[in-house]
Amino acid sequence: MTTDLPSDIWTRRTFVRGAGLTVGALATGCTTAPRGATSVAVPADQPIRVGLIGCGGRGTGAATQALRADPGVVLYAMGDAFPDRLTSSQGHMEGQFAGRVDVPESRRHIGFDAFQKVLNEDVDMVILTTPPHFRPEHFKAAVAAGKHIFMEKPMAVDGTGVRSILDDAKIAKQKSLNVMGGFCWRYNLPNRACYERIHNGAIGDVTCVHSTYLTAPLGTKPRQEEWSDMEWQLRNWQHFNWLSGDHIAEQACHAIDKINWAKSDVPPAKAIALGGRQMRETPESGNIYDHFSVMYVYDDGSRCFHDCRQMPGCWNDNTEYLVGTNGTCYVNSWGPEQRIEGRYPWTYEGPNPNMYQVEHDELFEAIRGKRARIDDVDQMMTSTLMSIMGRMSAYSGRPVEWNEALESEERLGPVQYALGDLPTMPVSVPGAVASWNELRTAEA
Ligand SMILES: NC(=O)c1ccc[n+]([C@@H]2O[C@H](COP(=O)([O-])OP(=O)(O)OC[C@H]3O[C@@H](n4cnc5c(N)ncnc54)[C@H](O)[C@@H]3O)[C@@H](O)[C@H]2O)c1
Repeated sequence: MTTDLPSDIWTRRTFVRGAGLTVGALATGCTTAPRGATSVAVPADQPIRVGLIGCGGRGTGAATQALRADPGVVLYAMGDAFPDRLTSSQGHMEGQFAGRVDVPESRRHIGFDAFQKVLNEDVDMVILTTPPHFRPEHFKAAVAAGKHIFMEKPMAVDGTGVRSILDDAKIAKQKSLNVMGGFCWRYNLPNRACYERIHNGAIGDVTCVHSTYLTAPLGTKPRQEEWSDMEWQLRNWQHFNWLSGDHIAEQACHAIDKINWAKSDVPPAKAIALGGRQMRETPESGNIYDHFSVMYVYDDGSRCFHDCRQMPGCWNDNTEYLVGTNGTCYVNSWGPEQRIEGRYPWTYEGPNPNMYQVEHDELFEAIRGKRARIDDVDQMMTSTLMSIMGRMSAYSGRPVEWNEALESEERLGPVQYALGDLPTMPVSVPGAVASWNELRTAEA
């Protein structure tokens, strides 16, 4: 049964939500599409040339969705660390989009500087889908080059990367570039309808959210004799925390984004987390944890909870459970079910198109000037930093405040990239954190 919200509640809630956007250090723009002024548009009679940076599974998927979004899209340049990944991605798309994958040898770029070479091509838009460690550097260069951007989640793996993106996002705004983040549930129509009702008071004030991302481990790639340390880590990047941010940032950030969405993108005051590594044993499983449990504490007194686990043979779950002063809301991200119970009960009955396609359909409409400029920066960076805070707290064994995470000088990973030796950092032990900054200081 669905009960309509009274009309006056919409106005009241919209005001409260707008007020929330100014809280915290991330007030760089607006948060929900469509919004803002139009971007630098590509006219309807011209092709939109796309550059793909990071030609793996998601990059190939995103480029495919871009090609489907607008008949004028042409995949024009590609870049990857490894030629085999680029070749397989290109072959996959050439088979589906004859004539619109226009990437001759001269526009296929390989290596750590491939991103800059793609950006030097005459492309209008770029897809940033490497492991997230590289995202801040690639975003900086893409903004400097004046390209529209689709960037996958998470957008950074440490506070240093978050600050870098926030700075560059201001320039992207000045240049009227579209910036879309890959928090794809924001483009899922049932979820949008549900969270819109939440923001408009369907369950009253949201006092608690519990979200889960409990799943099996991701696949690993056994080491080949000819691979250097760096190549081996890059090919197993999800399992090395400098590349992925650990699975709380790499994968579970979607469920943390749902908490953030429910709380109208207002950042929490602090995170208190537990975590550990109970069953990961092989070298390919790198140095990440296999479970985290985080409590986010908000200035309004509310508390939100997140659990994530990557273990085989366990119960899996990906749901959000919201508690409000007037009701509850249940969202199952892996299934169709979402319902609001309480004073204004509701279930979704509309269409449910592929959310990844909705992302690109909306982005390319904005690039054509048919809808307002897309700027996902506030929401995507709040959710990214919340995930990083959770990891920082679990690794260190102490609470981490929002500003501490945002201002943190921690920078994960080596300063220079080369296919050579790269020792695996030890697994963090709460109370005795091993950090890249400490390692570099010891080596200097
Ligand atoms: N939104 C979603 O549902 C979703 C789903 C899957 C992945 N993702 C995100 O997409 C990103 C990519 O994930 P994936 O599953 O495609 O991984 P992948 O391993 O399949 O692809 C990553 C690609 O980047 C390349 N690469 C690595 N370092 C590079 C560098 N410095 N320069 C250029 N290329 C480099 C790799 O060789 C590989 O081809 C990650 O951030 C991941 O979290 C999002």
